[in-house]
Amino acid sequence: MSSSEKPRHKPKVWSGRFDEPVTDLVKHFTASVGFDQRLAEFDIDGSLAHAQMLHAVGILTAEDLASIERGLEQIRSDIRSGAFEWSVDLEDVHLNIERRLTDLVGDAGKRLHTARSRNDQVATDIRLYLRAAIDRMLVLVKGLQRGLLDLAEKHTDTVMPGFTHLQVAQPVSFAHHLLAYFEMLSRDAQRLADCRKRVNRLPLGAAALAGTSFPIDRQMVAKALGFDGVCENSLDAVSDRDFAIEFCSCAALLMTHLSRFCEELILWMSPRFGFIDLADRFCTGSSIMPQKKNPDVPELIRGKTGRVNGHLVALLTLMKGQPLAYNKDNQEDKEPLFDTVDTVTASLAVFTEMLGGIEVKRDAMREAARQGYATATDLADYLVKKGVPFREAHEAVALAVRHAETRGKDLAELDLAELQKFSKLIEDDVFDALTLEGSMAARSHIGGTAPTRVKQAIAKARKAL
Ligand code: ARG
Repeated sequence: MSSSEKPRHKPKVWSGRFDEPVTDLVKHFTASVGFDQRLAEFDIDGSLAHAQMLHAVGILTAEDLASIERGLEQIRSDIRSGAFEWSVDLEDVHLNIERRLTDLVGDAGKRLHTARSRNDQVATDIRLYLRAAIDRMLVLVKGLQRGLLDLAEKHTDTVMPGFTHLQVAQPVSFAHHLLAYFEMLSRDAQRLADCRKRVNRLPLGAAALAGTSFPIDRQMVAKALGFDGVCENSLDAVSDRDFAIEFCSCAALLMTHLSRFCEELILWMSPRFGFIDLADRFCTGSSIMPQKKNPDVPELIRGKTGRVNGHLVALLTLMKGQPLAYNKDNQEDKEPLFDTVDTVTASLAVFTEMLGGIEVKRDAMREAARQGYATATDLADYLVKKGVPFREAHEAVALAVRHAETRGKDLAELDLAELQKFSKLIEDDVFDALTLEGSMAARSHIGGTAPTRVKQAIAKARKAL
């Protein structure tokens, strides 16, 4: 081959032992560069730390290290500017960067892969990626929690029906209802922070699976990359993706919480409830029905929960049959993981924005609570406080509700004489217990809906943020 002739195919870095190149179909089937290029900057960070360690232990010369550093920074800036040319011939993000490095700095680039393998390299990249993603998510969760507290603060006296079985149960404040989601999100944040501890361990040094014969310093690399420690077993380090699965399970729960909230917003926005209105900027119209204003944003978040749950199952299934150590199956971990991160971060951001655009219709909420015999339990409690056993009180109030229903009245609208038909012990003070405000105020223990208590809960939550 003369120097002007080009080889028909760029040989793969591993192709020395092969007689023929992979077919075009196989090349595209096995390549991951189309999606794993988003690991590029983490790959560069990992390579820099690795090269610095190789120099520190005497494997790389200072000149080689300097060349590698210069080349990798050049590549980083080319990737950022979009000038970097990705090639599917080079399979994945790691080989693309390594080849470019060698083109830029020559032999020093070829020395970078000493004492490592793509197996520990990719495991490191994913962990760095996921750690950054978790940190961004935690900020977003906090932002949403802050939004909940801002809204709750305005509604400690806003009465709405609390539901069980989606039937009116007892009056609660809208603030109290919002704080329920605050609690769920607090646990989501705790779970993510806990998961982060297991993500934040360094696989590099495991090399292909068994470790390396070079005198590497794994602690040094861990420290440089901000890991809390190293993976203790090389086989485990390159093969398990339990940290990604764990993350997806945290994400699935988080989305499940958002989805429940979205379901409520959708119901509440329906004219049948009419508890809230969503700002137009979060809704869309219908191409055929001119009257429509649809809650697309909460519907989409509810819908996207399905794909996040799906990714969790995909990763569990990906892992379950794999023998130790690394298998190419693991290349399939990326797309579900990336999409989970993208979906959750987008959902959190848009939900937070949407929360600021909710119009609360206090009168409709109040009316719904008033119509649903929401204070029936309070009447029973009133009788118990006068000495009636609870079961008897329950029965008496059930009869009173039936009576009120036939009259088309609320309990508080019955007059004293009518109420006394159900118990002689009922006196004039009963009407305090029957009001929505009285009912709420009476539940002033920790975790109760009394406005005084909810205000304290909000203050406590603010402090915790
Ligand atoms: N692209 C591969 C992945 O995502 C990198 C590791 C390849 N290792 C190998 N032995 N083929 O898992």
